[in-house]
Amino acid sequence: MSVEDAAETAQESASGQDTSDGSAPKLRVENVTKQFGRIIAVDDVTLDIQEGEIFALVGDNGAGKSTLMNVLSGVHAPTKGTIYKDGREVHFSNPSDARANGIETVYQDLALMDDLDIATNIFMGQFPRRGIGPLSIIDWEETYARSEEIMMERLGRDVDIKTEVEFFSGGQRQLVAVGRALAFDPDVIILDEPTSALSVDATRLVQNTLDKLAEDGITIVIVSHNIESVLAHADRIGVLYQGNLVDIKQPEETDLEELNELMTTGTLNAGLLDDD
Ligand SMILES: Nc1ncnc2c1ncn2[C@@H]1O[C@H](COP(=O)(O)OP(=O)(O)O)[C@@H](O)[C@H]1O
Ligand SMILES: [Mg+2]
Repeated sequence: MSVEDAAETAQESASGQDTSDGSAPKLRVENVTKQFGRIIAVDDVTLDIQEGEIFALVGDNGAGKSTLMNVLSGVHAPTKGTIYKDGREVHFSNPSDARANGIETVYQDLALMDDLDIATNIFMGQFPRRGIGPLSIIDWEETYARSEEIMMERLGRDVDIKTEVEFFSGGQRQLVAVGRALAFDPDVIILDEPTSALSVDATRLVQNTLDKLAEDGITIVIVSHNIESVLAHADRIGVLYQGNLVDIKQPEETDLEELNELMTTGTLNAGLLDDD
């Protein structure tokens, strides 16, 4: 390859444009830095996430997980750097911009309304309507039909969508929150600590559901400090340490101990970074 070709190839991959296999990554974070005053919460992170991948972002408290997630979901604009979606440069001023680009976020508190049913929780704030303009009314038939489709077909949960969510366990509540994200028909879902408060069984339920969504082509980004859980089902695990992305591991090439070491020291084997 000539020097010009090599430079062009490097330029193409650096710009998030089509790579040699013809497809751009679903998401590309390029040299992203986020500062809050003098604190560098995210420090020059570059990362590609592929379509249908389950990518986990792990790190100790204060490592920058939430900040990076908030950059992807439009809560924070990066101080420096660029986000690409499907190879196209995007700029999010707020979460609606991210949503308009197919990125939905499920926050840790879930923010469900306990005394309302599943369908109402899923479509809260964006009910299907019928009629025109100020005379339009909520189309409940459509709300229930679409909720049922989301819960049964997309999430594989055979539930009565007229059940109030207060009767639900943690795992099922998490799935309703995912259902609410799906109502916007995203191709990327970011989840903040989706299994942190869950029992072993509920964790498995949520994992199986996320696996199913990934198989259907949805890209899943999980922010977590539950290393055991992400080892069990993420495709790749990115480790943040003091704002730096210090390593990316596949579950089969690492273990709990190694990830713990990376998370707490930012390196492996006394200062020697892995060569990948
Ligand atoms: N809105 C903010 N203003 C000032 N500092 C912040 C803000 N958000 C996060 N930080 C700081 O950025 C660093 C990374 O925080 P965060 O992204 O919340 O880490 P994590 O989610 O991994 O625990 C921490 O030092 C934190 O105090
Ligand atoms: Mg956090």
